[in-house]
Amino acid sequence: MNPLEERARAIQAHGNLPRHVAVIMDGNGRWAERRGQPRIFGHRAGMKSVRAVIEAAGDLGIEALTLYAFSKENWKRPPAEVDALMGLLRRYMKSEREELIERGARIEAIGDLDQLGGAARAELDRLIEATAHCDRLRVTLALSYGGRAEIVEAARRIARAAVAGNLDPQSLDEPAFARFLYSPDLPDPDLLVRTSGEMRISNFLLWQIAYAELYVTETLWPDFGREAFFEAIEDYQSRERRFGRVMA
Ligand code: FPP
Repeated sequence: MNPLEERARAIQAHGNLPRHVAVIMDGNGRWAERRGQPRIFGHRAGMKSVRAVIEAAGDLGIEALTLYAFSKENWKRPPAEVDALMGLLRRYMKSEREELIERGARIEAIGDLDQLGGAARAELDRLIEATAHCDRLRVTLALSYGGRAEIVEAARRIARAAVAGNLDPQSLDEPAFARFLYSPDLPDPDLLVRTSGEMRISNFLLWQIAYAELYVTETLWPDFGREAFFEAIEDYQSRERRFGRVMA
């Protein structure tokens, strides 16, 4: 057994695996700039990390992975970068389809998906449909995603249900509210990983990360692979989660 396999075994033997890991994949631009390359070079390299992390999460037996691939704010980047990112996403969703099916990865998406261009949306729908039967790992791509927008959209859905007479405002509590979010059947993330050292949430899963453990690494996303993912999980396993309580 090689050292990384041994490490995977030890993580599994520990038992306290996060069910759901959410990742802010940051630092592609800096990675490229340090190499004197255009930013898109970093995004392209970042796709390899996406593959490595999906493989590692599946191998460990983690149930769900949510990846922040494109935020609502990212539309404000220069059009050339936005186009290149959409192109990369499209290519990724097509070229990785068979591999994802083999790995048992079921792809889902959250965000303002109507904002995606027709071609990217069509490729996404195809991938979601092709992997709908996969049951090893749920991979949610956050695309044109904003946490506040998600909460506002939930409020809108709730208001509509109330106006239609299908919801009594008095019955609305936290679990009932959460059922109106984009992915009501996903457990909240236990662990939020952010690469490239920034200490920010950047409007990601604002409702769902209320009790998530945070892990920030200086490693830039294109350098984040299987080993770095294991490190994040090991760090999580050393934490004591109290959810606001006092442990006996
Ligand atoms: C942040 O780096 C990263 C993004 C805005 C895009 C993430 C996209 C990928 C990893 C590629 C494809 C994704 C999938 C799911 C196939 P940045 O550009 O903000 O880097 P910087 O902070 O160094 O400028």
